[in-house]
Amino acid sequence: MSKLFESTTLNGMTLKNRFVRSATFEAMADENGACKPELVNLLVELAKGDVGLIITGFTYVNRIGRSRLGQTGIYKDELIPPLTELTRAVHNEGGKIVMQIMHAGCNSYSIPEGDYALGPSPKKMPQGCVCREMTKAEISETVADFVNAAIRVKKSGFDGVQLHGAHGYLLSQFLSPFYNKRTDEYGGSLENRARIVLECLRGVRSAVGGDYPVLIKINSDDYLDGGFNQEDMVRLAAMLETEGIDAIEISGGTHLSPEEYLFSRKTGIVSEEKELYFAQAARLYREKINVPSMLVGGIRSYSVAERVINEGLADYVSLCRPLIREPDLIQRWQSGGTRRAACISCNECFTPVRSGKAIYCVAEAKLRNKS
Ligand SMILES: Cc1cc2nc3c(=O)[nH]c(=O)nc-3n(C[C@H](O)[C@H](O)[C@H](O)COP(=O)(O)O)c2cc1C
Repeated sequence: MSKLFESTTLNGMTLKNRFVRSATFEAMADENGACKPELVNLLVELAKGDVGLIITGFTYVNRIGRSRLGQTGIYKDELIPPLTELTRAVHNEGGKIVMQIMHAGCNSYSIPEGDYALGPSPKKMPQGCVCREMTKAEISETVADFVNAAIRVKKSGFDGVQLHGAHGYLLSQFLSPFYNKRTDEYGGSLENRARIVLECLRGVRSAVGGDYPVLIKINSDDYLDGGFNQEDMVRLAAMLETEGIDAIEISGGTHLSPEEYLFSRKTGIVSEEKELYFAQAARLYREKINVPSMLVGGIRSYSVAERVINEGLADYVSLCRPLIREPDLIQRWQSGGTRRAACISCNECFTPVRSGKAIYCVAEAKLRNKS
């Protein structure tokens, strides 16, 4: 049997294979962030398709931290009941599910009237969001919001929680000297830039307990002049290891990175060699860090997925866009249909969700309409 399909355990969470559905914003929540039945249906399909671990789309921990309309929220107890139905439905299909929690920082495009977006330092984003610098009191409140969110994640029956520390959202903005220009203890050295992340991790860990899986997704590089780089990644991962993180998902890029270095790259995934676009970072991570790793970014072929595990590049293979098009991809691969994923990495799947509309594979829909 391929190592891809062996069972593993992450801090007590038993996974049936080494495939992870990387967090994917589904835009299937109402205006208050309550999860709609269509989200349950989508994630149940993934569980039926034998994805070993499903990570939800990014979920906001407070109202200011919402990135876009349609996003799921976890900022108040009233949001727990529909999420409990969601986790029950996924578990009924034998699936495991972790919630990704986040704050958008200066990528908040649905700020309530009269409020401001908040980031480590003032910033005007090309898409129009302007954020002001968080006060220290606001940093503490935000850390508390992450902790309370994680408590609700556990109460809703999720198998674990993942902090979103990647892609230029709030935690990644703090980590990045490109975004973070602070001169207090939250800016400057990596120790200072990582402070808020470690405060969130410690707070979450002490609230959910030592035996509850706590994961994080981080950048290996921002691909920005003066941004977070691979050396920072290794040092940050070591700090997270000391604090007892259970798994680290390796990604890279932010909304401001050059097109060819975005976290969801559109171009260049032309050969098996090019598929794993964070492979080099994963190798570097492996040399220094012992925490189980999940590698995301352009994986499309079964043979490449096998290579990730067989060559020890990472412990888990994480996929986003291929599973939008083919929720049953893992089952197909396991049953011997090992042709490449049908996803063409066109990124058209961003179009509906960016205007708050439910996700679907636009390329596939276009093909269907033609026939
Ligand atoms: C439509 C869409 C939504 C995404 N939403 C999230 C998200 O909520 N959280 C996150 O960490 N990454 C998100 N990503 C990035 C993916 O998780 C992943 O890191 C990236 O697409 C590269 O993997 P892939 O080549 O398998 O798609 C999203 C990507 C797409 C295309």
